[in-house]
Amino acid sequence: MTVPSTVNEGLGAFLAATAPKDLARVLTALADASIEVASRIRRGPLGGALHADVGPDHDGVAQKALDVFADQAFIGALKGSGVRGVVSEEREDFVALDSDGTFLVAIDPLDGSSNIEANITIGTIFSVLDAPPGTLEAAHFLQRGTRQRAAGIFVYGPHIDFAFTIGHGVSVATLDPEDGVYRITTRRVEMPQASSVFSINAANARHWKAPVRSYIEDLVEGEEGPRGRNFNMRWVGSMIAEVYRTLLSGGVYLYPEDSREGYENGRLRLLYEASPVALLIEQSGGAAIDGYRPILTIEPESIHVRSPLIFGSKDKVERVARYYGDEGEARLPPLFGKRGLMRR
Ligand code: F6P
Repeated sequence: MTVPSTVNEGLGAFLAATAPKDLARVLTALADASIEVASRIRRGPLGGALHADVGPDHDGVAQKALDVFADQAFIGALKGSGVRGVVSEEREDFVALDSDGTFLVAIDPLDGSSNIEANITIGTIFSVLDAPPGTLEAAHFLQRGTRQRAAGIFVYGPHIDFAFTIGHGVSVATLDPEDGVYRITTRRVEMPQASSVFSINAANARHWKAPVRSYIEDLVEGEEGPRGRNFNMRWVGSMIAEVYRTLLSGGVYLYPEDSREGYENGRLRLLYEASPVALLIEQSGGAAIDGYRPILTIEPESIHVRSPLIFGSKDKVERVARYYGDEGEARLPPLFGKRGLMRR
């Protein structure tokens, strides 16, 4: 059961009591930067055109002014916090920081940037790894998700939440706007298993592979289909919002691979999106896979490598995995449109 905090203790005191000192320092630096980013977001257009295109396109979306601001805020705050290097979604190459640092950070400084102007929830996703000895090189970041020392998300919504894990469950701190301090509001998050919600960008349906098409078809058929009950869809278009809703309310999220050029491995990046999200989801009692494998077991091939991502309540993710397991069978065209197979 989710355990709320009754005392609203400060994040600093909570980390001092629960995290190794050096790791607490990194998390504190990240939290400090998030406050700077949050206060910029809160001013909206009064603080300048945060959604203005300022850089080259990646993934079909130009780099926004807020992407750059957030990237600089986080990297600036991490200097002097014991971090040897950072991989950021906003930079082609890694950035070297403290030469004697013992940690590495992989970060998406601003997730959901296409939603900035519309005042819809956006966020930051990060992963903390141990820094291997030796001169920093890109290969040092290529560690499977099980090796993460910490992971977290900052959710810039109607209020600011920081959900994080250091490997012993997920806790949530909320930014108190009165004094600019994060306070623990949930000591331990336990994801509900019962939920009727699924999240997927249905505009891509014609590009999906057979397992995903079959799974979603069965959900959409509701009471009349093989599942025998109705489901509901939610799609914000900021993954961070879907992650946070799923952590708190359960359900299943899918950004699978599909047949579009460049989407052979889905859209999301393994090191600073899929991996930290998978750790948070697993630590709250859920599961995260790429269709076939747990996300946390995947060996990254490069720092910006992508991965399909399916996460949520355990039973739902296990069911999706069964559809992937049936792939050979489900691929056969006659099964499409008339779902005779029971996949309960
Ligand atoms: O890059 C990640 C992201 O911006 C997510 O926040 C969001 O869910 C997704 O991309 C949206 O992608 P698409 O427009 O392809 O659905």
